[in-house]
Amino acid sequence: MLRQIDAARLPRHVAIIMDGNGRWARNRHLPRVAGHRAGISSVRAAVETAARLHLPALTLYAFSTENWKRPESETSFLMRLLRRYLRDELSELQENNIRLQAIGRISELPEAVRDELRSTCQATASNTGTVLSLALNYSGRTELVDTFRLLAERVRRGELAPEAIDEQLIGAGLFTRGLPDPDLLIRTSGELRLSNFLLWQIAYAELWVTNTLWPDFRAKHFYQAILDFQSRDRRFGGLSDEPHAE
Ligand code: IPE
Ligand code: IPE
Ligand code: MG
Repeated sequence: MLRQIDAARLPRHVAIIMDGNGRWARNRHLPRVAGHRAGISSVRAAVETAARLHLPALTLYAFSTENWKRPESETSFLMRLLRRYLRDELSELQENNIRLQAIGRISELPEAVRDELRSTCQATASNTGTVLSLALNYSGRTELVDTFRLLAERVRRGELAPEAIDEQLIGAGLFTRGLPDPDLLIRTSGELRLSNFLLWQIAYAELWVTNTLWPDFRAKHFYQAILDFQSRDRRFGGLSDEPHAE
C-alpha cells in the first residue's frame, strides 16, 4: 500500500479523532481503561507512519473539554496514562525527529501533566520533522472564544481596526497557528460527527471514517486513508480540473 501512495500529493496535515477505546474494551469484557491503555500502541503507529511519510503535521484528539463529564476514575486514569506516554515515548519522538506541542486549554490540566508536557515539548523543540499536536482539554468552540476575546481586547486598546479582522488573523490566534489547515480528518469507530474538533480549521478537510476501533488502528489503516484521500476530487467550491462543458 505504501508503494501506491503518491509522495507528491500527500496531505500536509492529518488530524485524527481517536475514538472507540471503550467499545474495544467492552468487546473483550475488560474495563474501559484497558481500551485507553491499548490505544497507546495505535498512537505510536500513527506517529511513526506520519514520520515515515514526512507529513508536516499530525494532530491527535486525545482529550476533549467535554471528556471531563466522565467519571473521575476514568479521567484521572487518562491523565496518568498521558504522563506515562510523554515519559516513555520521548526517545521514540527524538528518533523520529518529531516536534511535540499541546493544543487546548493546557493551563486547566493537572500540574503534573503540565510539567511533563513542558519538558517533553522543550526536549523536542528543535526537531525539524513532523509537528505532532496533542489536543488536550481541547474544544473547537472554546478555542474560537479565546481567539475572539484576544482580538476584541486589541480592538478595545485601539491597536486593531475591526475591518482588519480577517481569516488570516483569526487563524493566527488559534492554537494551531503556523500549521496548515488539516487536509485529511480521520475518525475511528464509525461515529459520523466532529465532537467539537478543529471546527475552524477543517472547513475544507476531506473526511475519512473507519469502523476500526482506535486500539486496532495501525499503519495500514493510515495508508488506506491517505490512498482514499488521493482519489478525492477537491474542488474548494470551484470546478474540478477535468474539462467541463461551458
Ligand atoms: C476515545 O475512546 C478516547 C477518549 C475520548 C479519551 P472513548 O473512550 O470515547 O471510547 P468509546 O467511544 O466509549 O468506545
Ligand atoms: C471525541 O470522542 C474526543 C476524543 C477522541 C478525545 P468522544 O468519544 O468524546 O466523542 P462523542 O462523545 O462520541 O461525541
Ligand atoms: Mg468515544
